[in-house]
Parts: sequence; C-alpha cells; structure tokens
Amino acid sequence: MARGVGVMLPVFVVKASGALLTDVDGNALIDFGAGIAVVSIGHADPNVVRRVREQVANFTHTCFMITPYEGYLEVCEALARLTPGTHEKRSALFNSGAEAVENAVKIARAATGRQAVVAVEHGYHGRTNLTMAMTAKSMPYKRSFGPFAPEVYRAPTSYPYRTGSAARTRPIVSSK
Ligand SMILES: Cc1ncc(COP(=O)(O)O)c(C=O)c1O
Repeated sequence: MARGVGVMLPVFVVKASGALLTDVDGNALIDFGAGIAVVSIGHADPNVVRRVREQVANFTHTCFMITPYEGYLEVCEALARLTPGTHEKRSALFNSGAEAVENAVKIARAATGRQAVVAVEHGYHGRTNLTMAMTAKSMPYKRSFGPFAPEVYRAPTSYPYRTGSAARTRPIVSSK
C-alpha cells in the first residue's frame, strides 16, 4: 500500500450493521465516521443489500454510454423527485464527488461560454487537479501537488466556528 494513503484510525473493519462496526478483534464500535459522512442510511441496510445483490446477479457493468440500462434512469428520476423544485430537472451520474464537481464545471462552462469558477473559502471539492484548485485548504490536500487549474477565484463565506458569530448558540466556541 502506498504511504500517501493516510489512515485515521487503527481499526480494521470486518463487518458493519446500521451504525455499528465490528473490527478484526471482535470489538463493536459506533461508526461516527459513516464512510466520511456518506453512509447516512447506515451499513448493510437490507433494502440496499437486496438491490445490490439483484444488480450484480443481473450484470455488473456495461458503461451506460455504450449500453444503457434502466437503473440509471431510475436514479435520475428519483433525484428529480426528491430534490426541491418543480422545474424541469436532468441528471448525469458519476463515480465520485470530484468527478461530479469537474463535470458540473464543464457543463457550466459550455452553457455560459465563461471560464472562471468561484469557490468558497474553506471549501473542499476533491483530489483531482481542478477540484484541488477549487479546494481552499492547502494541507493536506494541495501542498506540493501544483500547478493547479487556472481561473479559480475564492469568495468569502460564513465560518461561525472561527468568527465567533455563533457564540450565543455555541458558548464553548472561542471568538478568535
Ligand atoms: C463537498 C465535497 N465535494 C467533493 C468531494 C469529493 O468527493 P470524492 O471523494 O467522492 O471524489 C467531497 C468528499 O468528501 C466533499 O465533501
């Protein structure tokens, strides 16, 4: 394994259910990491397991643009149904957050004919070249990985944890 792959916890997981992880030593741990906050439905949800089993039993991969299939359309329809607004909606599905952000920028550039991208201070957008450029925090995401994609500008955003503007509701936070 390459040294660049950082590991946060010395816990090796063998099984997980709901919010509980079981490690190789048999310890049960509450999973506050939740797949870095993306497993909001919990681990091994029976409906997810059933749909994954059905899918891999039918076929594992075709590439939708080579040979399309209904599951892709079902996800797009679900996104249109579940996201706010009654306007016309269209989706394209990607493999990762960084790939989605990169494609959002491509689509916006093609649609507007404009090149510049505005990303907020403190934002994290991914580990590809353009998303590193859009990411604000240098360490550990950017240092020594440049040069980065051009035409990325930064806009200020709210950061109550540092500014202290939320001090009334979060008294423990320092105003520094
Ligand atoms: C706001 C945001 N954008 C983009 C990404 C990148 O996603 P991925 O790691 O799937 O490429 C993340 C990942 O944590 C994220 O939190």
